[in-house]
Amino acid sequence: MVLQAAAWPCLSVLAQTRQEPGLREYAAKAGLLYGAAAAWPVLRDDADYAAAFARECNILVPENVLKMGPVQPSPGVFRFEPADFMADFCRQHNMRMRGHTLVWHTQMWPWFKTEVNAGNAKKYLEEHILTVAGRYRGRMHSWDVVNEAVHPRDGREDGLRVTPWLELLGPGYIELAFRMAHSADPDARLTYNDYGLDYDTPEQEAKRRAVLRLLRSLKERDVPIHAFGMQAHLDWAAFRNFKADILQAFFREVASLGLEIYITELDVADRELPDDIAERDEAIARVYETYLTAALQEPAVKAVLTWGLTDKYTWLAGRQRRPSGTPVRVLPLDRDFQRKPAWQAIRRVFLAAPPRKA
Ligand code: G3I
Repeated sequence: MVLQAAAWPCLSVLAQTRQEPGLREYAAKAGLLYGAAAAWPVLRDDADYAAAFARECNILVPENVLKMGPVQPSPGVFRFEPADFMADFCRQHNMRMRGHTLVWHTQMWPWFKTEVNAGNAKKYLEEHILTVAGRYRGRMHSWDVVNEAVHPRDGREDGLRVTPWLELLGPGYIELAFRMAHSADPDARLTYNDYGLDYDTPEQEAKRRAVLRLLRSLKERDVPIHAFGMQAHLDWAAFRNFKADILQAFFREVASLGLEIYITELDVADRELPDDIAERDEAIARVYETYLTAALQEPAVKAVLTWGLTDKYTWLAGRQRRPSGTPVRVLPLDRDFQRKPAWQAIRRVFLAAPPRKA
């Protein structure tokens, strides 16, 4: 029988497994979960990627396949094969799984504009959440129930983003989503997930205030919310605005509401860095080390996920194209699944992190 090339991880990946435990081992020693967003269909088709993922991660989040449009491409028609594959992959490799995302204003149902209106939006949203979260009941570590609902630039007094969900259902859509998700999966840690909160700038401070206002209002109404997801899409050039004490003060306020904190989409754009690989890798590694060292001082931080594991599959390749056109180098593994200085930096942070109760 001739095995397909994709059936055998290349020797370098196997060799690395012998060399050094994956980040998942170092995270576990600190009472943390470490994982990444998994791309589809490459998790199924690229054996080297799957082997690297299993070696490095003890939690997986689907990058796209559980978003509203991909999972319900037409009314009442659900596409679960990719997420089912990922759930089985997690089970095979003793890995947790988190869901992303039940309600978002991007990659919505392609049929939204033609089918959804003020009269049926609640019904469609409830059915979506109960069906999708219900399918993975008992198997999800956590769900991003609502994603990116805060946007003070939209000018609302409550700082909420003006999305189709808000326009059709009012601000109460957020509480509704969390209550539906909890009834569908009472064991999942329900998370509010957002970005643009990392730096000491007036705009990001305003957003931190608005996020805290939302989280506080949900807790005051006994809404079943258990965690805050800090996306942490960082950028080497913007990182000059990072102040550890600002991040730690924000995390303390979130934790004071009784919420866990997950770093959910960590990556570091390298657009402004020169092409020299050694110099670029060191600069990116320093950002990972500085940010995670500060973040992990907060005991409520229980999980760190990078938004992708390898430079071979990263959204930044398209979104933050480098002026010279050289491939980006933004994640812990390079395009050949080799560990980079960023990987070493994350390992050092996990080794030094104050242990936390899982
Ligand atoms: O699957 C379709 C394919 O059938 C089609 O041929 C192709 C060309 O149109 O599009 C494919 O869908 C793309 C999808 O990624 C899967 O590759 C969408 O167009 C594209 O918009 C989508 O981009 C994703 C983006 O979210 C929007 O959903 C990125 O991969 C993903 O990394 C990014 O992730 C988001 C988080 O979910 C939320 N936080 C921010 C983060 C970065 O934007």
